[in-house]
Amino acid sequence: MSVTAVVGLQWGDEAKGKFVDLLSPQADIVARFNGGDNAGHTVINQFGTFKLRLTPNGFTSPKTACVIGPGVVVNPTTLIDEIDMIQRTGIDLQDRLWISPRCHLVMPYHRLLEGIYEEAKGAARTGTTSRGIGPVFADKVSYNGIRFYDLSVEETFKSRLRMQLAIKNPILQAVGVEPLEFEQVFHDTLAQYARLKAFVREPFGMVQETLARGGDLLLEGAQGALLDNNWGTYPYCTASITLAGGACAGLGIAPQRISRVVGVAKAYTTRVGAGPMPSELLDQTGEKIQQAGREFGTVTGRPRRCGWFDAALVRFTCQLNGVTELALTKLDVLDELPSIKLCLSYRLPGAGERLWHYWELDAEQLAACQPVYTEMEGWGQRTTSVREFQSLPVQAQAYVRKVEELVSTPVRYVSVGPERNSTIHL
Ligand code: GDP
Ligand code: IMO
Ligand code: MG
Repeated sequence: MSVTAVVGLQWGDEAKGKFVDLLSPQADIVARFNGGDNAGHTVINQFGTFKLRLTPNGFTSPKTACVIGPGVVVNPTTLIDEIDMIQRTGIDLQDRLWISPRCHLVMPYHRLLEGIYEEAKGAARTGTTSRGIGPVFADKVSYNGIRFYDLSVEETFKSRLRMQLAIKNPILQAVGVEPLEFEQVFHDTLAQYARLKAFVREPFGMVQETLARGGDLLLEGAQGALLDNNWGTYPYCTASITLAGGACAGLGIAPQRISRVVGVAKAYTTRVGAGPMPSELLDQTGEKIQQAGREFGTVTGRPRRCGWFDAALVRFTCQLNGVTELALTKLDVLDELPSIKLCLSYRLPGAGERLWHYWELDAEQLAACQPVYTEMEGWGQRTTSVREFQSLPVQAQAYVRKVEELVSTPVRYVSVGPERNSTIHL
């Protein structure tokens, strides 16, 4: 039996989707436990190319159950579109998709409120994915949320929605946004619930039974450790817990059950949205990486900021997550660079020669700090078709070994292309 968590070690988009897909054929259950449709996970396998926001990436394996745990917030419109898209390819989700009735719904006012917050913040905006994620989690923790449970009894939903609109509409109106019509939201949401109802059932019992009989579970993290609400670059972060530990609460499994934590990190760094990124490259090398890596957001299409691999950050996020093995992705993107840097630590202007850790610094200090680099020779050869570690150019092997040493975690997989099989197993 194994319970494997797959989590992002940087600012998201590390290629978690690819690794969940790669590991899913063995899994009895693949479960999402955090985030919402702010996630965009790309999968390329023999069934096609999929960009999933909410559906766990086990749906192409016929015997795998796909679970959306209580820690996930669900935008019903996105989920219905996704289910339709998957069923159109001939893959059946009936009886295989489970949505916890404890999941909170992203309501139309959440996206409107987020727009108001971002606008008011001006230059200091977070640069969110505009999916209403911050406001829906704010309602959840302040006992103002609406869950699938609440939709199952019409009268309950009616009174909760009325109360929420009584609070939200005056805020919308105060900044010149059209208030929401109760009847419209009520009927639209119930119509969406009617589409999803067959999948809404608590997965806890099924998950526990699978654990008891020694089955395999795969936990699909969304976002990355540096976007975590506690440990990320607050307020340039997301609203949920993005760490392996978040899977325990977000799905309902005990911590000692998690036997493997696969930490996914790109061989360089990217970030979409605002906030500090010490190793960011604002030059032609950054542009080269952006072009070679096709670094444009899956959800918003925004260009991703690019920079060198930040070993100081990834060492920290391996510790935070208890990573047992690394999946180093997109190594092929560095193929053409003559030399490659890795960030080791930081210096703060005016603080002398002292080296600083990420966890000692707030977002603003991190933005001001100067990265300390080591430099390595590039390999100047295509690696996309390589499948054995020993067949990689020696400089690429040295680069992977250097990453391993700097973050004190073994590399188990090296990814050299987006397809499931473009992977080197170490
Ligand atoms: P996720 O959110 O962590 O699942 O990652 P995304 O799917 O948002 O972004 C990763 C992108 O990189 C996707 O477009 C993948 O198809 C692509 N990708 C994954 N692994 C590799 C790789 O090793 N090399 C290259 N060139 N692209 C990759
Ligand atoms: P996956 O799962 C990359 C970022 C946004 C923004 C911040 C807050 O595909 O790796 P939010 O909409 O969550 O309130 O935005 O978090 N962000 C992501 N960046 N990948 C993601 O998910 C992200 N989910 C949120 O860009 O900076
Ligand atoms: Mg993504």
